[in-house]
Amino acid sequence: MISKAQQKKLVNTALKVLKNSYSPHSGFKVGSALLGKNGKVYAGTNVEFDAFSLTVCAERAALFNGISGGEKKFNAIAIAAGSDKFIYPCGLCRQALVEFNPEMEVILITKSKKVKHFILKDIIPNYFKLNRV
Ligand code: THU
Repeated sequence: MISKAQQKKLVNTALKVLKNSYSPHSGFKVGSALLGKNGKVYAGTNVEFDAFSLTVCAERAALFNGISGGEKKFNAIAIAAGSDKFIYPCGLCRQALVEFNPEMEVILITKSKKVKHFILKDIIPNYFKLNRV
């Protein structure tokens, strides 16, 4: 379990970065903050393009940021929705994140700061894992 102080930092970062979302097509803002094993926090927002399929979710944007920062393991992620309903990470993001720690704590936040917690592996059973030969 991450500490209360770490939780607070993640939640605040996800809410803060939500404002930077570039979502001219859907108008739906998402902000995310990942806690690296070394204690650093990496933020990400969704980014949308005129060529729609290039869209990147906030969770993977944060993950790319963390990997670029030299991290290999993440202990928690906060995902802030630009609406009053919780949003769960999409299937692509679940797979991307689980490869870096199935035990990752996931914290969902709504715009009005309602919070929900769970463990990543519980929402992606039997995820793909490469059997290296
Ligand atoms: N989106 C995320 O950033 N994270 C999710 O978990 C689900 C969806 C984004 C992608 C797109 O920019 C917008 O939300 C609407 O689908």
